Amino acid sequence: MTYAALPTLRTPRLTLRPLTPDDADAIAAGVGNFDVSKWLGVVPYPYDRADAEAFIARHIEAGGPVWAVCDASGLVGTVGLVNELGYWLARPVWGKGYGFEAAHAAVNWWFSDPARDTLLSGHFAGNTRSRGVLTALGFEETGMGTRHAKSLSQDVASHEMRLSREEWLARQAIDIRTDRLRLRPLEESDAAFIADLAREEVTRMLFSLKTGLTEDEARAFIHARRWRGVPGFALAIEQGGRAIGYVATGNFSGVELYYALHPDHWGKGVMSEAVQAFLADIFARFPITRVVADRFEDNPASGRVLEKCGFQVTGRDVGHSAGRLEPAPVITYALMRTRHQVFQDQGGDG
Ligand SMILES: CC(C)(COP(=O)(O)OP(=O)(O)OC[C@H]1O[C@@H](n2cnc3c(N)ncnc32)[C@H](O)[C@@H]1OP(=O)(O)O)[C@@H](O)C(=O)NCCC(=O)NCCS
Repeated sequence: MTYAALPTLRTPRLTLRPLTPDDADAIAAGVGNFDVSKWLGVVPYPYDRADAEAFIARHIEAGGPVWAVCDASGLVGTVGLVNELGYWLARPVWGKGYGFEAAHAAVNWWFSDPARDTLLSGHFAGNTRSRGVLTALGFEETGMGTRHAKSLSQDVASHEMRLSREEWLARQAIDIRTDRLRLRPLEESDAAFIADLAREEVTRMLFSLKTGLTEDEARAFIHARRWRGVPGFALAIEQGGRAIGYVATGNFSGVELYYALHPDHWGKGVMSEAVQAFLADIFARFPITRVVADRFEDNPASGRVLEKCGFQVTGRDVGHSAGRLEPAPVITYALMRTRHQVFQDQGGDG
């Protein structure tokens, strides 16, 4: 197979682009770290610039599919689909969710060809981070194997994994139902609703929604938060077929939760119901360890929503709302995956 025109792929935080010879230093620095190379079957340790140059030359000649994974600072890893899905990220960027975000884009590209039915991968025994990424993508274990780890000069037990097109496609849909509500991706046709929602009593409690949004600005707000299968999206909260609010995640290291409800629907337990269902979905869907949130000190209703969903206060800060003239005190919260699990098993604090 040749991939003459390997496209550049974009995710909320990352750009996946074809390799260039200039990438050698960054790749040598990343893979040269033993924390990284010990989990990769095919690379030697020590790993130097000449190894990186050979890797790049080989894949440029083959036409991929291997991408340089870049964030705002430059190349931070690579992801490839040569025979199977493989990836590595430089040690300093671990823990940000980049692995899932980059692999998700590559897998999405893989299955964009309707002729492809499956994708294989695997990870060495003990590599729980990589397992988290693969299982969140939908990979299932097909059995144990043995692979040679060049950096360790020995054979190592490996978990062999497989992802079917069916499983992949099933996971790309998001549509959450609760007793009263439906949560589905925010769409362009919600622009009038978002513009209506952007009134002072709502925006002063938020960070990035300004009062009196035009419908064009609302469309841009929606576009930036469109559903792409990775954190960094908003879902409309619908009741009786009409949008009444939204719930969203940012995509910082701890995935950030934010939400808003039209004032006509306040005080009826709507947001608590929406956020509980949303959290259950995103903890099941993404390999995230915690969700963070913050609320202005003068917004106790939001604090109550967070507490009812298991969040705990982590500190105080000062926040700038697009709906306020002055910075104002905020209270910060976090919900760990482990606590969420216990909380859910106990049926919440409702
Ligand atoms: C905050 C917001 C989402 C709450 O939505 P909601 O559907 O009314 O919330 P719920 O009814 O599920 O829960 C609100 C809780 O706060 C409590 N509450 C409301 N006003 C309160 C107040 N002034 N002081 C203390 N608690 C209050 C309610 O009693 C309820 O708790 P309970 O179920 O234990 O009685 C909604 O008011 C909103 O959209 N505000 C503007 C945007 C915003 O603040 N977003 C969050 C930014 S962090």
